[in-house]
Amino acid sequence: MAEQQPSAIFLKDYTVPNFLIDKTELTFDLDETQTIVTSRLHLRRNPESKARTSPLELNGGEDVKLIGVAIDDYTLPKAEYAIKNDKLVITATPDEFVLTCETLIEPQNNTKLEGLYRSSSMFCTQCEAEGFRHITYYLDRPDVMSVFTTTIIADESRYPVMLSNGNEVARGKTEEGKTFVTWHDPFKKPAYLFALVAGNLEVLNDSFTTMSGRKVALQIFTEKHNIDKVDFAMDSLKRSMKWDEEVYGREYDLDIFMIVAVDDFNMGAMENKGLNIFNSSCLLASPETTTDDGYLRVEAVVAHEYFHNWSGNRVTCRDWFQLSLKEGFTVFRDQSFSADTHSDVVKRVEDVSFLKTAQFAEDASPMAHPIRPASFIEISNFYTLTIYEKGAEVVRMIHTLLGEEGFRKGSDLYFERHDGQAVTCDDFVNAMEAANGVDLSQFKRWYSQAGTPRLQVTDHYDEQAQTYHLTIDQMTPPTPNQPTKLALHVPVKVGLVGQNNQALSFTFDGQSTDEVVLHVNDTEQTYVFENVSETPVPSLLRGFSAPVKLDYAYSTEQLLQLMSGDPDGFNRWSASQQLAVNELNGFVLQFQQGETLSTDTRLVDGFKSLLADETLDPAMVALILSLPSQAYLSELADKIDPQAIKAAREHLRQLTAQALETEFKQVYESNAVTGDYQASAEQIAKRSLKNAALMYWVASGSAEAKSAVVCQYRNADNMTDQFAALSCIVHFELAEADELLNAFFEQWKHESLVVNKWLMLSAAREQDNGLEQIKQLMLHPNFDIKNPNKLRAVIGGLGQNVATFHNLDGSGYTFLADQIILMNKRNPQIASRLCTPLTRWQRMVPALAEKMKAELERIAREDLSKDVYEVVSKSLA
Ligand code: ARG
Ligand code: ZN
Repeated sequence: MAEQQPSAIFLKDYTVPNFLIDKTELTFDLDETQTIVTSRLHLRRNPESKARTSPLELNGGEDVKLIGVAIDDYTLPKAEYAIKNDKLVITATPDEFVLTCETLIEPQNNTKLEGLYRSSSMFCTQCEAEGFRHITYYLDRPDVMSVFTTTIIADESRYPVMLSNGNEVARGKTEEGKTFVTWHDPFKKPAYLFALVAGNLEVLNDSFTTMSGRKVALQIFTEKHNIDKVDFAMDSLKRSMKWDEEVYGREYDLDIFMIVAVDDFNMGAMENKGLNIFNSSCLLASPETTTDDGYLRVEAVVAHEYFHNWSGNRVTCRDWFQLSLKEGFTVFRDQSFSADTHSDVVKRVEDVSFLKTAQFAEDASPMAHPIRPASFIEISNFYTLTIYEKGAEVVRMIHTLLGEEGFRKGSDLYFERHDGQAVTCDDFVNAMEAANGVDLSQFKRWYSQAGTPRLQVTDHYDEQAQTYHLTIDQMTPPTPNQPTKLALHVPVKVGLVGQNNQALSFTFDGQSTDEVVLHVNDTEQTYVFENVSETPVPSLLRGFSAPVKLDYAYSTEQLLQLMSGDPDGFNRWSASQQLAVNELNGFVLQFQQGETLSTDTRLVDGFKSLLADETLDPAMVALILSLPSQAYLSELADKIDPQAIKAAREHLRQLTAQALETEFKQVYESNAVTGDYQASAEQIAKRSLKNAALMYWVASGSAEAKSAVVCQYRNADNMTDQFAALSCIVHFELAEADELLNAFFEQWKHESLVVNKWLMLSAAREQDNGLEQIKQLMLHPNFDIKNPNKLRAVIGGLGQNVATFHNLDGSGYTFLADQIILMNKRNPQIASRLCTPLTRWQRMVPALAEKMKAELERIAREDLSKDVYEVVSKSLA
């Protein structure tokens, strides 16, 4: 353990900054090993601060070496400043002055990938949340907003492209013959939105004319060999710009918008003002190297980062506790964009599946936190599914409560009131309230309460009176530091379905309708539906109108009925999922009790009619066929038994495959896509159904299917089909598995992102020597532990490899812990993310729980980074 434990900081302790920085002038003399940064900060005391004589304290980092510091033109002697806990402290300052600071940093040795670092042959930055302090001393907090002017000096032959935020305003030669380029960003921004890039890069140029007729230059930069893979990102960018104008009335503000792809990046992408920096996995796309999912991801992330220009940059966060203000809202915006671009039901199902699988698991873990946390030790640990995905659900609920138009009025008022400011989640909700004249005070509890609320629903139909009563109990389980919870305001969208699969109309609150949003806001409430002509099946929580767990004792018949008859497409999927979960949980129990898994399942009939119905969206059919995932079933389990869950899923797949072999063959053959590859909703839908059917058809054991899958692998002209075939071949260990895995590597060894797919699939392959195989992968010449995508690929593959990772001898967990310890100091953000599976130890069956806990305890004995310390200590608390 570190001698001094890192301590938490609290939202309740927020105070305004003592100083403000009106202008920030930076000069970077770029060098791989020793970069000199000179800053001129135009500082003045904050008139709103009560501390009239407090010292100036600037944030820095252990990796920043101070060369010299001056106030106006007076160079401070050592006695007049101090460095304490990485902070530069100056006790005596004028009320208004220019502070000049010279610092030295070592980009080449920066393995944490925050601040200024090297990726391949380029320089790049990542400053959110607190990376800027690793570049120079600064008031590194989002409520200090400044106008930045940045000069980059470098050797032009090696770094012909030198970029920063805003517009290029000057360029020339220095006395030593180096090139300098100066950028000026007229918009005030916090330091976390600063960016710098230098490298030998290619560019794709385009332009966009905004709604007021301004022409904006668009540029996407990559290393030379990737420039052929950014057309789709450019197209996505232009569509995002248009969409934000049409749906939110938001126009782009600078004359230029740039995106740069880098290979080494801790997260997905970053919305730096006018200069977005992307993990290349979220930007590059070509039919031959990128799957349909990859395309959709590029489109969503390009939109997400672009949308941040308003929801995040023009209006930013006051402090990091408000992170969901920009992230929840922006995720909601990118989800809506993708839904409008493709199919809204399919998109909703995908987003909800992800939330219910991964965010619900986080909510049930020792890391559970509200979307606006009350405290943290390391903010990097709070870029979570809760802040992002649950945050988006909370914004979506506001949208549901206010309606499309009301929500738009609210967002207009929010942007109008707060343009150029750093604000809070309350400011956002207040604008929504004010624009609509509604009271959202109880609703605001969603921001401060952690945990997934549970709704318990019971009903009663009175035939005589033609009334239907729904009783809803709500309860939110305890989470760390929050033993008791208050009732939330939960919008529950409800419809009624009749015996002949027809929507039933009813009278609610004196209005005749066939759908209603119930405002659940107490611990127990009963709602009365009148003029209900027959016993209804309730269709509850349509469109997943709130991020809750809803329990209603549906019979199998009722679920089958909803699956085929619910007018709400989302709830048809939901019913099918519930049916599958019920069946699978039965199999899990049989497996655990050593019984033979039963062979009769009602689900097969449901699937049969699904496959026969040609009116359905093939993408929806594919989603239903994909079965509840291993991770989702784990989240639902009382005690997670990975081997039993896996056996149950395989069993259901086998049963279905054998019963419907002919149907799957037929669906496979009739969904072939003709013509050139397109990432269109239609083609993606067909490919997903075709490949889902292929998986079942091969599972049936049919020899014809086996040759069809190998044939698809060999003839595929796009990565979606090629990789689907390869995954299937490897999963079922067909005779060609070794040969084709190798062939795949040989074919793609020069495409780093495809190599990652190979690494993941190889790591996930369940063989007897699983762990040995993973260790070999990490020694492979194409593996690189410094590249987060590669590490995530292998460790992600290990996580899917149930037999290896959850080996009863604990060796899988020991291996993971070894990697965490290895990465702890090198790249704390990545190390901390790798801990996630171990944080769920209390949910595992006892034999596995103990092994996981032992590994957490072993990690805890190391000298830990703040990042890993926070996750490990909270998990063991
Ligand atoms: N704001 C970025 C995004 O969502 C995420 C950057 C987070 N980076 C980090 N190192 N924590 O779009
Ligand atoms: Zn974001």
